Amino acid sequence: MKRILLIEDLPQVAQHLQQMIAREKEAELVGVESQPEQAIARVTTEKPDAVMIDALLTGKVTGFDLAKRVRAASPGTRIVMVTVPQRPVDPKPDQAIDAVFVLPGGANELASALAVMQKGAVRPKGKMVVVFSPKGGSGKTTIAVNLATVLRRRGSSVALMDGVMQFGSLRYVLQVPPATRSIVDLPTGQGMRTSLSEVLWEGPSGIAVLLAPSRPEEAELMAAPDIATAMQLLAEDHDYVIVDGSSRLGDETLAVLDAADVILLVVTYMQASIANSRAAVDTFEALGYKGQKPILLVVNQADTAAGMSKGGIEHTLNLPVVAEIPTDWKVVSESLNKQQPLVLSSPNSSVAKALDQLANTLVQQQRR
Ligand SMILES: Nc1ncnc2c1ncn2[C@@H]1O[C@H](COP(=O)(O)OP(=O)(O)O)[C@@H](O)[C@H]1O
Ligand SMILES: [Mg+2]
Repeated sequence: MKRILLIEDLPQVAQHLQQMIAREKEAELVGVESQPEQAIARVTTEKPDAVMIDALLTGKVTGFDLAKRVRAASPGTRIVMVTVPQRPVDPKPDQAIDAVFVLPGGANELASALAVMQKGAVRPKGKMVVVFSPKGGSGKTTIAVNLATVLRRRGSSVALMDGVMQFGSLRYVLQVPPATRSIVDLPTGQGMRTSLSEVLWEGPSGIAVLLAPSRPEEAELMAAPDIATAMQLLAEDHDYVIVDGSSRLGDETLAVLDAADVILLVVTYMQASIANSRAAVDTFEALGYKGQKPILLVVNQADTAAGMSKGGIEHTLNLPVVAEIPTDWKVVSESLNKQQPLVLSSPNSSVAKALDQLANTLVQQQRR
């Protein structure tokens, strides 16, 4: 018997659903809660198989907020949103909506909404964020490593992947033991799924790191689709996959960008950086990324403005700037010497704060 908790503040609707659930052979109602806090407490202790939440809950907490809190409190509980025909809701497992039931609905509709319980705990796929820049040395690696660390320290599970198959740098900016295995040690095809965990290296704060090959000639052994597959498999087990991208728009980078949910485009206030970024953005548009995935600008070394402004760069590239990271050679070189992300070696520096803020923006952006 599957246990269902109903979160509903309208007594008539609660009664209607209660009667419907009573007629379901495979399901039993364990209770009705009308107050968000009590509902969460109950989910936490009882871990029901499913909750049905009124999407139109009135009061401070919306049904959608509550769904996310239920997910956090009990990831194995399936969440069915209850709505009315005038307010359509789509199932979005990554937004904590596994199924939708539209009132008044019939027995068949209820049964099919509750069928999500049979699927077991489907983990929402993690977000794949690629840090890209058409210019080497613009700060991709620095941003990728620190962003991954901040997200991890806030409690998300995070994978960090070197997207530069030849001369990748994650191996050297972190304290990776010399013989640590890399993406090239993975079998291709279905075998990749089972072997992935064996080649991951546990990095700072428990980030799962997928390294690039250590020898330059091994880069050729990696086919672009396999690189994208590795990234997608990492997203099955982690909330975030951060890819330290290359600065060449070749096959491997395009495969990674295609798979990405979000592209962070790193720019500096240098003419060459902005002009090449403009060309990259044109390519993104030709590839149909516009409207399909957010492309967000991160200005690195933003204090060396050289007569350019944030507004100017936003205008030229027609994209929003989500972070401005100042220059700090001392903090950066200390972090490189210690082989430690700067958000750990100098947490109070302004660079670390800017990177922390970038993580904030990204998390908020993903919630929307
Ligand atoms: N905000 C910054 N302030 C000072 N040095 C920086 C900053 N960002 C990056 N660097 C340094 O610049 C160099 C290039 O950065 P890196 O992250 O490796 O760029 P990319 O991966 O794009 O080639 C590195 O030595 C890095 O430590
Ligand atoms: Mg790099």
